[in-house]
Amino acid sequence: MKITTILGSPKKKGNTAKVLGWFEDELTHLGHEVDRINIVDREVNGCLGCGTCQKKADEPGCVQKDDAVSIFENMISADSVVYASPLYCWGFSSQLKALIDRHFCLITGYGSPEYRSLLQGKRTALLVTCAGPIEDNADLIQGVFDRLNNYGSCNVVGKYVVPFCTTPDAMSDEALKTAKKMAKDIAEG
Ligand SMILES: Cc1cc2nc3c(=O)[nH]c(=O)nc-3n(C[C@H](O)[C@H](O)[C@H](O)COP(=O)(O)O)c2cc1C
Repeated sequence: MKITTILGSPKKKGNTAKVLGWFEDELTHLGHEVDRINIVDREVNGCLGCGTCQKKADEPGCVQKDDAVSIFENMISADSVVYASPLYCWGFSSQLKALIDRHFCLITGYGSPEYRSLLQGKRTALLVTCAGPIEDNADLIQGVFDRLNNYGSCNVVGKYVVPFCTTPDAMSDEALKTAKKMAKDIAEG
C-alpha cells in the first residue's frame, strides 16, 4: 500500500514530526511504501477563489503555478493520505490550511449529478498534536476534517490527537501508542 503523509507543521523536528515519524516507521516496517511531504518545504499559496478549476473534472485544474498540484498528484496516486498538523488556534496550521482550501480544485459538481472527486475512496487519517487537552480544544479540527472528507468522498480511518505535548523529547508513551494504533488501523484497511 502507498501512504502519503503530509507534515503540516512549520517545524520538521517538532512534536507532530516526532509522532508522524513513529507512525511512518511502523508502516515501513510492515512493508508499506510511505511518501512524506513536508509542507514547509513546498510553496502552497492560498486559494484565489477564481473558480477556474471547476471547469476541469478529470484533473486538478488550478491556475496557480505553485506546488499544490504536484502534492495533489502524489495524493491521487496513494491508497491512503495522512494529514498531520499541530493544533493552531483550534484548527490546522496555516500552511496546511492553505493546502486544504486548495482541495477545491479536486472536487467538481458538488451537490449535483455531475459530482466528481479526484480523491474518491481514499482512506485518510488525521494526526494532531497540541499543548492542551482534547476536550473543548481539539474538537473543531476533527469536525472540519470529517466535513472535508465528506466533501471529497474519502473514508476516514481515524482521527488521532496527542494532547499535552511539550517538547519532542518529552513525548509520552501514550503518544507512541497512538502512532502505533494509527499505523495498525491504516495497515488493516
Ligand atoms: C500559533 C500557535 C497556536 C497554537 N494553538 C494551540 C491551541 O489552540 N491549542 C493547543 O492545545 N495548543 C496550541 N498550540 C500548541 C501546539 O499545538 C503544540 O505545541 C504542538 O504540539 C506543536 O507541534 P509542532 O512542534 O509539530 O509544531 C499552539 C501553538 C502555536 C505556535
